[in-house]
Amino acid sequence: MLSWDEFDKEEGEQPAKGANAGHAAEAAMDKLDSAGAGAAKEARAVSSNDSAAVARAKAALDKLDVAEGLAELEGSAARVAVDEKRMINCRADLNQLVPFKYDWAWQKYLDGCANHWMPQEVNMTADIATWRNPEGLTDDERRIVMRNLGFFSTADSLVANNLALAVYRLITNPECRQYILRQAFEEAIHTHAYQYCIESLGMDEGEIFNMYHEIPSVAKKAAWGLKYTRAISDPEFNTGTPETDKELLRNLIAYYCVLEGIFFYCGFTQILSMGRRNKMTGVAEQFQYILRDESMHLNFGIDVINQIKIENPHLWDAELKEEASQMILQGTQLEIEYARDTMPRGVLGMNAAMMEDYLKFIANRRLSQIGLKEEYPGTTNPFPWMSEIMDLKKEKNFFETRVIEYQTGGALSWD
Ligand SMILES: [Fe+2]
Ligand SMILES: [Fe+2]
Repeated sequence: MLSWDEFDKEEGEQPAKGANAGHAAEAAMDKLDSAGAGAAKEARAVSSNDSAAVARAKAALDKLDVAEGLAELEGSAARVAVDEKRMINCRADLNQLVPFKYDWAWQKYLDGCANHWMPQEVNMTADIATWRNPEGLTDDERRIVMRNLGFFSTADSLVANNLALAVYRLITNPECRQYILRQAFEEAIHTHAYQYCIESLGMDEGEIFNMYHEIPSVAKKAAWGLKYTRAISDPEFNTGTPETDKELLRNLIAYYCVLEGIFFYCGFTQILSMGRRNKMTGVAEQFQYILRDESMHLNFGIDVINQIKIENPHLWDAELKEEASQMILQGTQLEIEYARDTMPRGVLGMNAAMMEDYLKFIANRRLSQIGLKEEYPGTTNPFPWMSEIMDLKKEKNFFETRVIEYQTGGALSWD
């Protein structure tokens, strides 16, 4: 472990005592400031040892205007007050994380970090044996594993690209951006997890990664999401008018409420049901960790959407409400079709009709979470065990595998 004690004491310097301590400390700081500034200026001076290239680099820095650079980055180059912060179209400096306005966003960032996991932690040995054994799974079960790895192996990349290429720059709040960066990394881990499963099971990688082009029930879901990325990923696109602000809201609803909030649920339920029956427990455990991350992504997205509505009530008019409701219903319909395609017959104690009920139950939740009317009255949840899985803590997971320690700061070697 590093110890900072030795760096604390300066030889021959004693801390000032008594009533003048504050002034003395301030004067000492001023002295250090001017000594530091002088030393930095000296370092800039071209010396006889400098090559022509180094001298040119030093001279170029003489023209750097610090205040201008910061002002150009985002908003004004001044200290940020909390009431200047806004979810979209904010003019305050976005490089200053604090003071927080949206504590929930920072808390989600911390919770996401506390849930960190890596795909290699999961033991895939039993899955490999099951997959290779011709009697290991039924044809229907194999179809479910293939289809879901096909959908998810590209779906999480669609989400990550949408965040990095479209959403990130348009959400003008640093604590939310901090969470979005964490989410983007989690999406990379999810894609890694699917790749890890595909590789472990020795599947045809080209076939799996191409399903989002080749299998209609997979392709339709991907195309539906991509339409909303395309609308705002143009580098010329910017928010700031009611039309463009609404376009961003449509994107957030498409990705958080539909892609991450509906399109993942049939596949998660099928694979987790397999794990509950002690089949493909490694794949199921990967999906369990992913589902836990995804439920946090979804909750973050809902909070962002609702906060934008609070700050910009004029955007949430009858027309956009109707459109948002239609988007959720279209997404539900596509997922129902995906359930039919992946489960033409009953399998794993479930069938497409039960999944349809579950998806309608989920759709009602998504509608009410953003303040819209539920469209499938009286629907109940046929899979209550799904909500229990989402809430499980990592150390108490029901597959009881070992959790590997991460390399932490204390374990780093400086050799
Ligand atoms: Fe994901
Ligand atoms: Fe996600």
